[in-house]
Amino acid sequence: MISVTIDGPAGSGKSTISKIISKKLGFVHLDTGALYRAVACFIKKSNIDFENENDVKKCLKDINLKIKKVGNEQRILLNEKDLKNELRSLDITKIASKIAAYQSVRDYLLNFQRDFAKFQNVVMDGRDIGTVVLPQASVKIFITASPEVRAKRRLEQILKNGENFDYLEILDSIKKRDYEDTHRKIAPLKKADDAILIDNSDMNLSQSVESILSIIKEKVDNI
Ligand code: DC
Repeated sequence: MISVTIDGPAGSGKSTISKIISKKLGFVHLDTGALYRAVACFIKKSNIDFENENDVKKCLKDINLKIKKVGNEQRILLNEKDLKNELRSLDITKIASKIAAYQSVRDYLLNFQRDFAKFQNVVMDGRDIGTVVLPQASVKIFITASPEVRAKRRLEQILKNGENFDYLEILDSIKKRDYEDTHRKIAPLKKADDAILIDNSDMNLSQSVESILSIIKEKVDNI
């Protein structure tokens, strides 16, 4: 099967780009950040102390995740329940970032992610897909942009949703997340040696998509 991995920091646009690319190629998209967020949802709903790795580890056996396709959308079912938009809240973002550093959580999600790529062509985005989850992937991309550009994009998204937030606060939280994601001991955010680096600070969405598509077409025959 063909697999394309797209790793990068928060706000680099990797999920949006991956969604478009997978549609254009007729591949299935998996946003792996949403899996960590789904586990975070379970932890929050069950009132488990997310700072306590042992408690988190114990609850993993009660979690059953499934991916359901609705049109072109990927929905995550947590114990058969559609999580809808809960995944994106600030609370869940904070819990997901914390539990993503636990080995037990990463092990639990590793097989799920690998199984997903076994029998179908995929575009999978995350932090460690090219390095840990699918080290034999057909094409690996590492996408990034300056923290300032990523903060500006995030602010635009928030304003579009009718909310407001301070730019400097967003910039600060992006820098903190970058630090946590790149400095954790297990599976840190890191470019795989054989991944192609794309800095899209000066690109718009369609330019980012086109540049990645041309790399994929160059690397994979008959696509
Ligand atoms: O991409 P995102 O913001 O939805 O990811 C949520 C959290 O999950 C983020 O803090 C990093 C973590 N994550 C990870 O550690 N490994 C992945 N493959 C995907 C996400």
